[in-house]
Amino acid sequence: MVDSGHLERSEDFIPIGEPDLSPLEREMVLEVLAGGWLTRGAECAAFEEEFCRAVGASHALALNSCTAALHLALLVHRIGPGDEVILPSLTFTATGHVVVHVGATPVFAEIDPETYCLDPRHVETLLSPRTKAILPVHFGGHPAELDSLRELAERHGLVLVEDAAHALGASYRGAPIGAGKSCACFSFYSNKNITTAEGGMLTLPSEELLDHAARLSLHGMSKDSWKRFGSEGDWRYQVTEFGFKYNANDLLAALGRAQISRLPEMQERRARAWGFYQEMFEGDPRLILPSEQPGVAHARHLYVLRLSVESRAERDELVNALREKGIGATVHYDPLHLHPAYRERFGFQSGMLPVTERIASRIFSLPMHSRLNDQQLNRVSTEVLRLA
Ligand SMILES: Cc1ncc(COP(=O)(O)O)c(C=O)c1O
Repeated sequence: MVDSGHLERSEDFIPIGEPDLSPLEREMVLEVLAGGWLTRGAECAAFEEEFCRAVGASHALALNSCTAALHLALLVHRIGPGDEVILPSLTFTATGHVVVHVGATPVFAEIDPETYCLDPRHVETLLSPRTKAILPVHFGGHPAELDSLRELAERHGLVLVEDAAHALGASYRGAPIGAGKSCACFSFYSNKNITTAEGGMLTLPSEELLDHAARLSLHGMSKDSWKRFGSEGDWRYQVTEFGFKYNANDLLAALGRAQISRLPEMQERRARAWGFYQEMFEGDPRLILPSEQPGVAHARHLYVLRLSVESRAERDELVNALREKGIGATVHYDPLHLHPAYRERFGFQSGMLPVTERIASRIFSLPMHSRLNDQQLNRVSTEVLRLA
């Protein structure tokens, strides 16, 4: 149900995403502030435990972003210079950047034209002796085709790392994203299904990988500050490798604990907003609606429409016109291989990924979050139907 309090908010601009914060978040953050321990400590440990329970993961490490989680996931699998990582181009910059940051080469594969997730058949054609990992993105909250990707990875001895930035709340064949045997990387950026302002979670399949990721998240030090400065601590530590400063903190974790406890309620409201759009757009030949394949539960993070050949609208003009009407429509994403940094470093060119490029030029995202009310949803839908 839509909270009636939300109806009183300004109706002027409808953002693409919006944090959904309740008194519980305030209470839990204030409790941490009053406790005096702000950086990584007991609250992070509790958040990790609760997150594991929510997604069925065996191990989890709270971090300061999903980008950090992706970077560490590649590092703990020893992916580096000389290796190739296959990933989709229809994704946020972070997915490709971490591949470059570990010194590996990004190899972009096509997306499935229905789900907009990595196409396993195209991935197979790109395998080379240097391929070390496959990095699917659960685009918009629709799980990638994990059975085929897992089978490919197993058959060729490759690592699978899941970019699950959009996928908290999604499941694949009954198993939540994060419960699998591969590392999954979640984002808690302010527009995500739960938020800690900035933050991320890395789920891992073993204690060994967790210990390594935890060490790398704090400069490669053998102990975090809780273990050094806490009442039971010992100041001595060793630096065993060249790590990063990626750790979460207890304030972030307090926000995260409150949010994860409210996830089912917020997901319900996302689903309601989703259903509203579907009903409004169903059957309109100008629009291709988001797909939901059998056997998956969609996290409903992004609501992405595609203009069909029947539409006479021009995508960029449509997005601009929606924005002029106070609707925070946007595009997820311009393909990564066409951005200057990637073109210049790797020589990528347009035409390289025809399916991705064609789809990317026709899609646009509408406001999707748990605080949307019927009036806003109606306003968005009416404008889209007028302009499509
Ligand atoms: C697909 C995808 N991967 C990774 C990230 C990076 O997340 P963060 O901002 O938490 O580092 C994002 C952020 O929006 C994303 O959309």
